[in-house]
Amino acid sequence: MTAGLEISGISKAFDGERALEDVALTVPAGSVTGLMGPNGSGKSVLVDIITGQTRPDAGRVQLLTEGDRQEIGGLPAETIAGLGVARCWADVRLLGMASVLDEVLVGAYTLRQASILGSMLGLGAARRDQRESLENCRQLLNLVGLGARTQSRPDALSHGERARVGIARALASDPGLLILDGPANGLAAEEVALLTDLILGLKAAGVTVLLAERNMKMIADCCDSVVVLNAGRRIAAGSPADCFATAAVQRAYFGATAAGIAAC
Ligand SMILES: Nc1ncnc2c1ncn2[C@@H]1O[C@H](COP(=O)(O)OP(=O)(O)OP(=O)(O)O)[C@@H](O)[C@H]1O
Ligand SMILES: [Mg+2]
Repeated sequence: MTAGLEISGISKAFDGERALEDVALTVPAGSVTGLMGPNGSGKSVLVDIITGQTRPDAGRVQLLTEGDRQEIGGLPAETIAGLGVARCWADVRLLGMASVLDEVLVGAYTLRQASILGSMLGLGAARRDQRESLENCRQLLNLVGLGARTQSRPDALSHGERARVGIARALASDPGLLILDGPANGLAAEEVALLTDLILGLKAAGVTVLLAERNMKMIADCCDSVVVLNAGRRIAAGSPADCFATAAVQRAYFGATAAGIAAC
C-alpha cells in the first residue's frame, strides 16, 4: 500500500548548532519527491528524523495511508519501519551474508517475521511463504539489474551494484514509502543513469519515493517536485526547473557569482 508524507515545522539542533530550522516537506503518495541541497545542508538529518534515528526538537511528521494520517515523529525506528517506511543509506551496509540473494532476503524478514517461528516449527504454510519470499527477492534483483548476480559474494560487488542491492533489500519489505539517502554518492555517471532509470521504473509501478540527493541532474531527471535545503533551511520548493532557476539555489550550489550572472 503506497503512502505519502507531510512534514511541517521541523527543527533540530546538535549542541546548540542548528541542523534544521522550520522545515516543511510534502511527499504525495505515488510521487518521486526530491530533497536537495549541498553538502551539510541537513538532508540526512531530516531523513534520520523521518525514519526514527533522530528525534526532532519541534515539528510534525505525518504518514498518510489511504485517508489515514498518523504522527510518526519521535517513534522508534523499528515502529516506523513496521509502518512501511524503508530507507537506503548513502553508504549501503552489507550484512555479511553469503550471497547477494541473502542480502536482499534480510529485507523480507521484517515482512515475514510472523512466519519465522512457523518455519522453525516446519509448518507447510511457512515453507510456502519462504518460497514466495525467495522468488520475490529474485524478481527484485532482476528489477535492479542484478538478476545474474544472485549467488555472487556481496563483497565482490561494485559500489553502484551495492547501491542497487540496498534498494532491492528495501523493496523486499514491501514499503509504502521508499527513502533513498544520497544514492548517487561516489557513483560514476553511468551508474547514476542506471539508478535514475530504476527510480523512474519504481515511480511507474506506483512506489512513493523520497530522494535525498545533492546531484541536480538526478533530481531533475527523477523528481516531480523538490524541496531545496541550505544550512538547515528550506530555500526553494516546486518543480526542479523552477527551483534551479532561483538565485538562492544558484548561490547555494555555485556561489554568489553564478547567482549574479543568472540574475542579469
Ligand atoms: N549526530 C550529529 N551530531 C552533531 N551534528 C550532526 C549530527 N548529524 C548531523 N550533524 C550536522 O548537521 C548538519 C547537516 O548534516 P547532514 O548530514 O544532514 O547533511 P547532508 O545534507 O546530508 O550532507 P551530504 O550531502 O554530505 O550527505 C551538518 O552540519 C552536520 O555536521
Ligand atoms: Mg547526507
